Amino acid sequence: MQVLAVLGGQWGDEGKGKVVDLLAERFDIVARYHGGHNAGHTVKFGSRHFALHLLPAGIVRGRPSVIGPGVVVDLDALEAEIEQVAAAGVPVGDQLLLSDRAVVILPYHRLVDAARERAAGAAKIGTTLRGIGPAYESLAARTAIRVADLFRAETLAARVAAVHAETGALLRALGEPGVPEPETVTASLRAAAARLERHVVDTGRFLRDRLRAGATLLAEGAHGAMLDLSAGTYPFVTSSHCTSGAVACGLSIAPRALDASLLVLKAYSTRVGSGPFPTELLDATGEFLRKRGNEYGTSTGRPRRTGWFDAVVARTAVELSGAEAVAITKLDCLDELDEIPISVAYRLDGRTVTDIPPLAEDVARLEPVLETLPGWKTTTTGVTRYEDLPSAARRYVARLEDVVGAPAVLVSTGPRREETVWRGDLPFLQGLPSPR
Ligand code: IMP
Repeated sequence: MQVLAVLGGQWGDEGKGKVVDLLAERFDIVARYHGGHNAGHTVKFGSRHFALHLLPAGIVRGRPSVIGPGVVVDLDALEAEIEQVAAAGVPVGDQLLLSDRAVVILPYHRLVDAARERAAGAAKIGTTLRGIGPAYESLAARTAIRVADLFRAETLAARVAAVHAETGALLRALGEPGVPEPETVTASLRAAAARLERHVVDTGRFLRDRLRAGATLLAEGAHGAMLDLSAGTYPFVTSSHCTSGAVACGLSIAPRALDASLLVLKAYSTRVGSGPFPTELLDATGEFLRKRGNEYGTSTGRPRRTGWFDAVVARTAVELSGAEAVAITKLDCLDELDEIPISVAYRLDGRTVTDIPPLAEDVARLEPVLETLPGWKTTTTGVTRYEDLPSAARRYVARLEDVVGAPAVLVSTGPRREETVWRGDLPFLQGLPSPR
């Protein structure tokens, strides 16, 4: 076992940050392979609390941490985050490696993102307004400015001017009055690049060499399978691929280098932004889950929509990433409930449906088929041994394993590192050092 991917199996915010943090000490390198600072990973241990967006969670463990070519990078956000974790006692030194091929998010991308959302009104995606979509568009359109471009003064200015000319017209059409001058943008990019230069390398070459030499790698997913650009609830998705298929392209390593995938699933469901959400609860129970689970965005502070666990979503995500195992998070947030429904299928136009339909308007019409499990009505917060969980909680976990078709290797019973049930070492973790 050399390369493991940890991915989200729902709509993001499953608690990947905690799982990656727990596993990071067992791997030599941690790498982000897609997304940008739209992601939000919370890591808590002792009295310390880190809200990471762009930095791989391995940074907190002092591991070499790679931001791969599949990531879109806002240089100001990256610098702010480096300062923030340094202020919290984790100085970021040479262990941060930024790909020379990563795409730079420009102010124009941020403005286009916001202007489009404004113009869409009720039909908006509910993006994080960080410019993620337009930055990925620029890559596909072959007009992107990548990190390596920042160090070529003669071409950078021309490339920024070209983006300004193109997006300036679009921004004005969308009613955005303040389009920054290309000279100002270029100067700010060059200044940030000079400060970040020590981190910039060919991370693909670094990873391929290290893997050949036997190093282990944890690939840290962002978002979740249902936000995947192709497999998710399109168009209410993010602009990158969020399944294990993205690991190779996003890190410039071979697909066969990936040995296993661990899918992180919250014990219930949440979603931020617009888009269909079949098991959504719009009642007092939904509000209870939001408060109990502190379901407010790490990146944007937005209240998350809440709902019951959706087995079709989770099973599809297991299949899409070929996940060998799952991690169940936030089990303790269900402690107070009398009974806990999970959705095992849907009904649509009088038929039973067991796959996610391709059209968002049909996903919005799905009625969940609920199976109700008994609650345990006792605290599980901080439980660390599986046998110490109440039997109804163990039954709940076992039922989730059943419906998603993969074993739960860990169950999280609180936000802190310590509040975790490890269920022995599954085969895919063998050969790695044990968790401390
Ligand atoms: P974008 O990624 O900012 O373009 O937003 C597209 C959609 O993905 C919106 O519904 C966002 O709320 C959602 N999204 C993006 N990143 C995350 C995340 O890390 N957690 C949850 N939702 C996310």
